[in-house]
Amino acid sequence: MIELFPAKKLSGSLKIPGDKSLSHRGLILGALAEGTTRLENLSPGQDVSSTLHVLQRLGCEIERKGNSVILNGRGVAGFEEPVFPLNCGNSGTTTRLMTGVLASQPIFSILIGDSSLSGRPMSRVVEPLAKMGARISGRQNNSRLPLAILGTRLHGTIHELPVASAQVKTALLLAGLRAEGETVVKEPAQSRDHTERLFSWLGLPFEKKDLTYRIRPASVQNFFLAVPGDFSSAAYFLALGAIHPNADILLEQINLNPTRTGFLEILQEMGASLEVEETSATPEPVGSIRVRSSHLKNLDVPVNKIPNLIDELPLLAVVATQAEGTLVVREASELRLKESDRIAAIVKGLRKMGGQVQEFPDGFSVRGPVKLKGARVRSFGDHRIAMSLSVAALVAEGSTGLQGDRWVRISYPDFFEDLNRLSGER
Ligand code: S3P
Repeated sequence: MIELFPAKKLSGSLKIPGDKSLSHRGLILGALAEGTTRLENLSPGQDVSSTLHVLQRLGCEIERKGNSVILNGRGVAGFEEPVFPLNCGNSGTTTRLMTGVLASQPIFSILIGDSSLSGRPMSRVVEPLAKMGARISGRQNNSRLPLAILGTRLHGTIHELPVASAQVKTALLLAGLRAEGETVVKEPAQSRDHTERLFSWLGLPFEKKDLTYRIRPASVQNFFLAVPGDFSSAAYFLALGAIHPNADILLEQINLNPTRTGFLEILQEMGASLEVEETSATPEPVGSIRVRSSHLKNLDVPVNKIPNLIDELPLLAVVATQAEGTLVVREASELRLKESDRIAAIVKGLRKMGGQVQEFPDGFSVRGPVKLKGARVRSFGDHRIAMSLSVAALVAEGSTGLQGDRWVRISYPDFFEDLNRLSGER
């Protein structure tokens, strides 16, 4: 447990660790490539280490020095059959993306994970992959880990996804790299598009028209990728800067991919004092963001924005406690299927701190502004809940005891050190 205290002042600049989504994809595509791939500023979080370890178990040689990685690709069909089950830890992205990759490899493999991951739905990847000929079985009618994958020849299919999910979209596009003919994926709303950007950047036979994506089998060339800072990690400081009465924070080299920055747009609409400067753009737009203390007004979050701020919705609930009026989030039931039930977890935490929060089956509403009060709260084993409640603690009255603070290691191991740096505690 960590004890958190209100900050008097928050100022300074931070370099946020590398983007988690892009790090997973960079490692996997590097492993599928021919030759040596180099990645810089890889996410230091445990989720990305899970992907790295899984790839090593599949015979991929990876040398890691700090957050730089050099990896010898094995080509699109070159993985070794692993002797032991592949442990995906807490990482849904590792599991779903690797299921797509392993379905077409001529090997047998088993994916396992921790208790949170073992409760998360996997039918969303298993079922469409089965339509391509994949042979995957798992617990609870093939919907839960462990998954046993008997790699086989796949054939391209047309997939119409019922929910916008970048993990599912990516799993199918990765499978399409080794499937006979064309694999088509249609999604109902734009989810994060890192995979599509990387596919185009790498010159793969990939086409995108509106929300329809097509991939044909291909080999992958090695590459060098400098991973920009993770917008989702930056978001905690954007929130804090906007709601704290004495804040001026500069975040540098952040990934500004518009399919990820829905939270930035909502903060802007709420009236936050933000300055965004875009500096470069391949394969992802990058830039700096300065945030200062702001007077915020709550709003109804447009449903079409939900996929672009899905991971920031618990944090938005925290922000809303300090803004005027009522914030409403609906049609976000996907939040209940993340590392924790994020609707229940954030509602519980904020209520304990005096927040005026209502829970819906598919979202929540928050009425503000209220003076939050320090309390004993829990992360429910979820990194994003741990960091969101820490932001709340820094603007609350008195001290807050956060149980399960160690879960920040999943995406942002130095989160508390960076918080201290900005508040002048270190
Ligand atoms: C991710 C996609 C999102 C997101 C997760 C990372 C990715 O999940 O919540 O943190 O890297 O593709 P869904 O695809 O399940 O929406």
